[in-house]
Amino acid sequence: MKSISLLIVGLFITSYALAQGNTERDKRIAEFLQQSRQEWRDLNVPFEDGKILHDIIVDNDYQSALEIGTSTGHSTIWLAWALSKTGGKLVTIEMDEGRQRQAKQNIEQLGLGDFVEFKLGNAHQIVKDLDGPFDFVFSDADKDWYVQYFKDIHPKLKQGGTFTAHNVLQRLRGIGEYLDYVQQHSDYQTHIDKTSSSGIAISKKQ
Ligand SMILES: C[S@@+](CC[C@H](N)C(=O)[O-])C[C@H]1O[C@@H](n2cnc3c(N)ncnc32)[C@H](O)[C@@H]1O
Repeated sequence: MKSISLLIVGLFITSYALAQGNTERDKRIAEFLQQSRQEWRDLNVPFEDGKILHDIIVDNDYQSALEIGTSTGHSTIWLAWALSKTGGKLVTIEMDEGRQRQAKQNIEQLGLGDFVEFKLGNAHQIVKDLDGPFDFVFSDADKDWYVQYFKDIHPKLKQGGTFTAHNVLQRLRGIGEYLDYVQQHSDYQTHIDKTSSSGIAISKKQ
């Protein structure tokens, strides 16, 4: 009984802390993220990683963000929520139409539609065609293309901007090459967040 009460109090405190902005929309989003945290099934980021991305945007007041790999939109919600607080906008790319449809539905349902532009297609080409500039990037699609995404975005990333890449603690093809490349790049300071077992490489442009 005591442990159930503690759990309920814990959930309440986390929801409250997450709400931050305290508008009705903020409360709805915080509640949705809390309640759905175990329900994401489409290669989505864990809750903890979504919060890290959200906080980077809010703490740095970033306003022009890019996400590569929307899936059904868990990270997209975190990014769009952060941008709703900074007055920014997110471009997010996905090649699977069904996943994108679900992501759009989630974003609309939470009242975040004004903060997201969805692009459907192969990010290999779309990323090259984007004008930018961006001050925040989240790379979470095909890992063996991470280095190429980084090279394509580098000239479009503002000084002081941050490039993040997911799953860098996992043994996936392309990750080792990506880490070697970004950690040796003299324009970037990189550290790896190990909060979740996935890992996020966070590279700030100097
Ligand atoms: C790890 S999931 C993204 C999870 C999402 N960021 C989240 O947390 O909810 C990767 C997604 O990238 C998409 N993807 C993979 N390669 C792609 C490409 N070349 N262009 C566009 N999307 C791609 C996949 O269809 C998949 O939905």
